[in-house]
Amino acid sequence: MADSTRFLLAGVMGWPVMHSRSPLMHNYWFGKLGLAGAYVPLAIEPAGLAAALRALAPLGFAGCNLTIPHKQQAMTIVDEVDEVAERIGAISCVVVRRDGSLYGTNNDWRGFIDNLKQEQPGWRADAGPVAVIGAGGGSRAVCYGLLQEGAEEIRLVNRTTAHAEAIADEFAGPISVLPWVSRHEALEGAALVVNTTSCGMVGQPALDLRLDRLPQRALAADIIYIPLETPFLAAARERGHHTVNGLGMLLHQGRPAWKLWFGLEPEVTAELRERMERSIAGQ
Ligand SMILES: NC(=O)c1ccc[n+]([C@@H]2O[C@H](COP(=O)([O-])OP(=O)(O)OC[C@H]3O[C@@H](n4cnc5c(N)ncnc54)[C@H](OP(=O)(O)O)[C@@H]3O)[C@@H](O)[C@H]2O)c1
Repeated sequence: MADSTRFLLAGVMGWPVMHSRSPLMHNYWFGKLGLAGAYVPLAIEPAGLAAALRALAPLGFAGCNLTIPHKQQAMTIVDEVDEVAERIGAISCVVVRRDGSLYGTNNDWRGFIDNLKQEQPGWRADAGPVAVIGAGGGSRAVCYGLLQEGAEEIRLVNRTTAHAEAIADEFAGPISVLPWVSRHEALEGAALVVNTTSCGMVGQPALDLRLDRLPQRALAADIIYIPLETPFLAAARERGHHTVNGLGMLLHQGRPAWKLWFGLEPEVTAELRERMERSIAGQ
């Protein structure tokens, strides 16, 4: 439970970090819950990550989130890495424990799954094959979450096949790796297709993926949230698919972080989504 006699502190470490929308979200929750606290962007160069993480406890931080490029490096710095972060291979959330030691976990997979459930009530991972495009850090969290939720068939496609094969080997679940040239065919009969590549992100080329094989009832999701609608999602929407963008993944990974830092689980409200959308659209 949050201690009402203390100023509650958390933040996000990244390099760069000023683009992050996390402070807007967490500070909304402090205000909504009437708590004295702040969530701050912490611009930390990779060489300074260990010192910055070690400073969390003496500065009175409950913990922090990590973003690019720190998620992997932090694994070698914190005192304990939980099984989830170990399997995903990255830490998204650091918790300062009572004795000042640092515990690292990963909530990105929860963000992805909880968002799908909120956006598409009744969604099930075992509703049919899932095509996951991309095999970077985001993909690892998405694949982990889908397997946790009981996905029976994941078709993993990546430009560099070896990266997809590494995920399939490590996760040892029902993941089949298809070559990049077969990405369009991977959508045949799929219930869900997820873009986890950086293609379609602001400043990046669009994802080169034909949707003609995607069944009409299939859900299309992207983990990118800048822009809110990537060319991939726009094409899926135009074909009549229900689409889910990456903003909700960011919003929903914040809740388990609050649970760990402050013992509270704030709501992902329509008002919060709107504020975040306005901020992203206005950039
Ligand atoms: N919503 C959220 O909370 C959330 C969380 C995590 C990430 N994200 C977003 O997800 C995106 C990916 O992040 P990440 O951390 O997974 O990045 P990452 O680890 O660098 O992985 C990038 C992925 O994109 C692929 N890729 C890059 N350029 C490509 C191209 N031109 N053609 C085809 N594939 C290409 C890479 O393929 P190779 O393996 O061949 O290089 C790799 O699979 C970013 O936009 C990030 O902001 C969002």
